[in-house]
Amino acid sequence: MAGGKDAAGYLRIQRRPGVGGMGGWVDGTRHPAGSYNRASMDDVMDRSALDALIDRMRRREARIGIVGMGYVGLPLALLFSEQGFAVTGFDIETGKVEALNRGESYIVRIDAAEIRKAQTAGFRATTDYAEAAGMDAMILCVPTPLNEYHEPDLSYVTGTVDALAPHVVPNQLIVLESTTYPGTTEEVVAPRLEAGNRRGLRIARDGQAGGNCLHLAFSPEREDPGNDTIARADIPKVVGGCSMATRELGMALYGSIFHRVVPVSSPAVAEMTKLLENIYRCVNIALVNELKQLAMRMGIDIHEVIEAAKTKPFGFQAFYPGPGLGGHCIPIDPFYLSWKAKQFDFRTRFIELAGEVNTAMPYFVIDQIAAGLNEHAKPIKGSRILVLGLAYKRDIDDLRESPSLTIIELLRQRGAEVAYNDPYFPQVGHGRHYALNMTNTPLENLGSYDAVVIVTDHSSYDYAAIVEQAQLVIDTRNATKGIESAKIVRC
Ligand SMILES: NC(=O)c1ccc[n+]([C@@H]2O[C@H](COP(=O)([O-])OP(=O)(O)OC[C@H]3O[C@@H](n4cnc5c(N)ncnc54)[C@H](O)[C@@H]3O)[C@@H](O)[C@H]2O)c1
Repeated sequence: MAGGKDAAGYLRIQRRPGVGGMGGWVDGTRHPAGSYNRASMDDVMDRSALDALIDRMRRREARIGIVGMGYVGLPLALLFSEQGFAVTGFDIETGKVEALNRGESYIVRIDAAEIRKAQTAGFRATTDYAEAAGMDAMILCVPTPLNEYHEPDLSYVTGTVDALAPHVVPNQLIVLESTTYPGTTEEVVAPRLEAGNRRGLRIARDGQAGGNCLHLAFSPEREDPGNDTIARADIPKVVGGCSMATRELGMALYGSIFHRVVPVSSPAVAEMTKLLENIYRCVNIALVNELKQLAMRMGIDIHEVIEAAKTKPFGFQAFYPGPGLGGHCIPIDPFYLSWKAKQFDFRTRFIELAGEVNTAMPYFVIDQIAAGLNEHAKPIKGSRILVLGLAYKRDIDDLRESPSLTIIELLRQRGAEVAYNDPYFPQVGHGRHYALNMTNTPLENLGSYDAVVIVTDHSSYDYAAIVEQAQLVIDTRNATKGIESAKIVRC
């Protein structure tokens, strides 16, 4: 990190002179390059070289490399390609690279036709980092999970940076998009790039003497898988660079595909922005999860309450209760900040409390299943239970951190005979935290199960038919809204 220890011995993030205090300057599209302090930009990079690169970006002639052809990187590669850029996708998984080069997709919501269309526009994939030398910009979209101690696992980021560093070239723009704690770009990525490159290139900083350098920025990914209500290009893109010249490059790069770019004063601000967004979701979901439990005891339908509250035209945003958090973001990202906060002798109590409430939700669902079966004079042990939906949310093929996995494991531990149905997963083996080794069960003979548990409310399910056939339905998503039946336990 560009920073040091203050009098109290705590690490602080250093504000670079002239970078902060941009006032209301948030919409990159409305501010010409001339708004910058030219003297400091000319320090870090020859102005004509900078202008030439910006020009290539605006003309869509810049060559873009994207590392990590996963849920984030592949759609981003297709977006750049759609806008006329020549894109190269980098990944360590040979299977993914070969599939892409055959014009195939491995993500359900991405059609193979989109990959083939991108190929005709020049898109290809590779495992060879040496090809990075031919790129004007490299965007890193690799995983940032937690390790077994619930601490940030930056090994994918460091692995990527170490593999990339020997191949970087002067004046290249490198952008980290992986969600992470404030300080990662400057504390972890910058030193590794500087130490690992073969030409002695330094990261561009304001006020630094001119010459060849590397441009390093952070720009958080804000994709919402399965949400088709907003086009990716309409989601404003936040970017913070290690220098003002870098920020200008980042704005030119993203400004050519996103309708609005929001420049911020440093990579740390951009990193923290993403965490604020996700922590806001995590805390509010925990709040409604807790209130749902109270409302159930009081005989009040929390969903009816939320619908009514939503009519307030200001000061309220609706969040919905569920069986627990899932996905690669909301259950994980807040802990990146609480881990980092310890370095500053600070406890992030909201994050911890929200984590406690949300983590307990699958256990609450198990209690509700037990109570529902009890009404039928049955124990969990020996009951046949069908879990509907493995994905962590509706209509997607991603089961990372899905509460379904925990619920299935807890049911098995209690002696239930568990089957699942999910149109997106023909089978499920083992992951970082689970070993289910199950195959998809057809949606048949629902009456033969002691309980059907709706964990993911995929839109392809016919909920009225499910309720009609099942003996007992535990609905954790309000998927049976509007269906009246004594068989339903809504929780
Ligand atoms: N999935 C989302 O909805 C979402 C939304 C916002 C932000 N994010 C963030 O974006 C980042 C990427 O998430 P994702 O969901 O795309 O992950 P993913 O697991 O789907 O994809 C990551 C890809 O990176 C590849 N990879 C790993 N190490 C590599 C290396 N050293 N070199 C090259 N490739 C490597 C993997 O093989 C994989 O294909 C994470 O930080 C995540 O928190 C994800």
